[in-house]
Amino acid sequence: MFFSVFERPYLWLLALIVPLHLLYLRNIRQDKHSILRNYPLVGYLRYFFESIRPELRQYFFESDLDGKPFSRRQRSIVYQRAKNVRETVPFGMQANSQEPGFEWIAHTMFPVHVQQKDLRVTVGSSRCRQPYSASIYNISAMSYGSLSKTAVTALSAGAKLGGFAHNTGEGGVSPFHIAGGGDLIWQVGTGYFGCRDKDGHFSENLFQQQVAHPNIKMVEIKLSQGAKPGHGGILPAAKNTPEIAAIRKVEPYTTVASPPAHSAFSDQFTLLLFIDKLRVLSEGKPIGIKLCIGNKQEFERLCQEMKHNQIFPDFITIDGAEGGTGAAPLEFTDSLGMPLYDSLAFVQNMLQKYGLRDEIKLIAAGKIITGVDIIKAISLGADICYSARGMMFALGCIQALQCDSGRCPVGIATQDQNLYKGLHVADKRVRVANFHGNTIKSTIEVMEACGFESLGQITPDKIFRRVEQGRNKSFQELYFPKKAAPSQISNNYVLN
Ligand SMILES: Cc1cc2nc3c(=O)[nH]c(=O)nc-3n(C[C@H](O)[C@H](O)[C@H](O)COP(=O)(O)O)c2cc1C
Repeated sequence: MFFSVFERPYLWLLALIVPLHLLYLRNIRQDKHSILRNYPLVGYLRYFFESIRPELRQYFFESDLDGKPFSRRQRSIVYQRAKNVRETVPFGMQANSQEPGFEWIAHTMFPVHVQQKDLRVTVGSSRCRQPYSASIYNISAMSYGSLSKTAVTALSAGAKLGGFAHNTGEGGVSPFHIAGGGDLIWQVGTGYFGCRDKDGHFSENLFQQQVAHPNIKMVEIKLSQGAKPGHGGILPAAKNTPEIAAIRKVEPYTTVASPPAHSAFSDQFTLLLFIDKLRVLSEGKPIGIKLCIGNKQEFERLCQEMKHNQIFPDFITIDGAEGGTGAAPLEFTDSLGMPLYDSLAFVQNMLQKYGLRDEIKLIAAGKIITGVDIIKAISLGADICYSARGMMFALGCIQALQCDSGRCPVGIATQDQNLYKGLHVADKRVRVANFHGNTIKSTIEVMEACGFESLGQITPDKIFRRVEQGRNKSFQELYFPKKAAPSQISNNYVLN
């Protein structure tokens, strides 16, 4: 027998090919790992490189604090929370606590108990007739077209499972947003997709038909986003398939532009009239705006108009310049727009200055993926937070940075059927819900350790940043320097 194998070398080949073939068949049929479903054999290389951590990986590959825009440590916590597995870290802090930029929260000697376990906030001004009770953590805008159908369905189904909301992105409400059954925030951008007439202008009729869908709980008018403020987008004719065209209400196989500016309004006052119009057409659903702060005077002017006319959005979403996108020009991504914390504090100050704070809820987006990120945003004025890329990690995103190539290896940011079929909706929806649930749980644990019994007790005087070696400032001093909080003096004394 031994000799006969040598005499017939093809038997060796067979001995290699048969197990590999069986492995291939097993991997394309399993649901758990998108990478192995899409790359049944080569995909193991990733696990090989993973398995040599930390002894070798830290020399040849990224360390825990490396990786951009999200470090390995940040990505790992999302994966762990999404998979509902161990979410502790060993051996202690990895950041250098002496370096400028290091931040921490002051805890209490006497931890408290937070009664409210699901942390929800009601959105709806005095002019709104269908207020929405929102989770403080929701899925930020990402369109079908930028994400795959399996990714969108898994996000929507995860939102339903976890009781939170899913923003459609400016590409309109697709059947995949509806299929998952989650609460939707319908985003209306400059292309008015799903509510546009033949010439690309806003159509009251189509808006009214769509907004009546019971899953649509709120509407967000997109003015800009942090990764490319003031930049429009193009849907190339080739990607404008009959399916996409039907969702967006455009002609199939034509090039469709999302211009930088809206055609339904042109200044602060006409924007407010448009908000009021949408509120009436939607029979009183909450209507908000999303923007990345640029010119501060323009925003102050908007507040003056709100106060003067007593018309306001029910919510304002602030996207930090550090926000993500599928594709954007480098100049816009790297150099335009105000970062999240500065914007939140500015908007909070403006709304308070003009007496609008009780009417309008603030939603924050920009790299918010942990309980501490949520608490920091709330301390600066946010009522609610969004996550886009955190939710992508929960779906299995490995930060391959291929969103603009159409070749996303885990089937999230792609329209290639061979790739997106690897994303198993039933499994990933549970991960999205787990990530949300465990992040809320961690937010509550941190609140309890810091003595915040409710969201309203989270204040900026309890959060600190080292601004230079040996010198610290509280968020209160950094972002609200003119208003001293009651406990600011004692905290500075202890911690400076
Ligand atoms: C793939 C992708 C697609 C996006 N599409 C939209 C969009 O259609 N409309 C929008 O307002 N923002 C869009 N964004 C921005 C996000 O909604 C969010 O504001 C931003 O990424 C900040 O959140 P994050 O840091 O949690 O990702 C997109 C982001 C990503 C990553």
